[in-house]
Amino acid sequence: MIRSEHSQPVAHAQVANSSSMAKLALTGSAIVLSLAMLLIAGNSSAAGSAVALESPRIDQGNQRSLQRGAQAFVNNCMGCHTANYQRYSRLAQDLGLSEEDVAANLIFTTDEAGEPTKVGALMANNMTTEYGKQSFGVMPPNLALTARSRGVDWIYSFLRAYYVDPTRTGTGVNNLVYPGTAMPHILWEQQGWQTPILGEEENGAVPITGLELTSPGTMTPEEYDDLVADITNFLAYMADPIKQTRHRIGIIVMLFLFGLLAIAYILKKEYWKDVV
Ligand code: HEC
Repeated sequence: MIRSEHSQPVAHAQVANSSSMAKLALTGSAIVLSLAMLLIAGNSSAAGSAVALESPRIDQGNQRSLQRGAQAFVNNCMGCHTANYQRYSRLAQDLGLSEEDVAANLIFTTDEAGEPTKVGALMANNMTTEYGKQSFGVMPPNLALTARSRGVDWIYSFLRAYYVDPTRTGTGVNNLVYPGTAMPHILWEQQGWQTPILGEEENGAVPITGLELTSPGTMTPEEYDDLVADITNFLAYMADPIKQTRHRIGIIVMLFLFGLLAIAYILKKEYWKDVV
């Protein structure tokens, strides 16, 4: 902080001495630089994991995939996790479902009075922090924004990286992407159980070079990957629900501006036709 305060007047002095062309160039390069920084920041959201992460092929415009993801999320994840910034009614609207559909097929929780949760409510559950801590040592976090904090690649890889580890007394599993995680392998029925493929011993530690499906679940590996991709897609939607709307508006704005450009150009020609 102190450094940047110091360096600013110096930069100013330089600008003041130079010609306006140089000023322009400086502003230009500052804009290019900040754009580049933005791009880099956008791409580095999947940091913080030792293993290579895989990218799911997901499409935010695919409502069927989002519907399947929502279904899997309420069925498998909401027992522990909330998505406490997301409303069911908004989800209905964005995923192309009626509120009756959502109430009948996606709401399995009750509110404080014991009534079925209303469609206008947030996607919460009734787990208390004490219960969460007691059961898992840590409260299962709200997943509404996890696709932003961890990145979609992280979530997709995490849900596929569970392996059997008898040394882990609580859950009996470990995870390559999130070692020592307190979350059990929730989707074991679908995926089955993976065991680690061990490499050569190095410095007293045996590295895990890969995972092998030793006890298949109800799904084939491809089907399981699709399921996890749908869940990831849904988490990505929740982390940025208006992304699709923003894209649509962006395109309309660009079309409008191009139209305006054409009109302005024709007008300019009309004005100047007798002058030059
Ligand atoms: C039995 C309870 C339970 C269920 C069910 C469950 N989780 Fe978790 N989950 C946890 C706990 C506990 C943590 C915290 C793990 C930790 O920090 O070590 C966690 C952490 C996570 C994280 C990491 C969040 C972060 O930013 O650190 C993700 C992502 C996640 N869960 C996704 C899911 C998804 C998707 C499902 C449904 C398929 C699911 N979970 C179902 C208990 C659960």
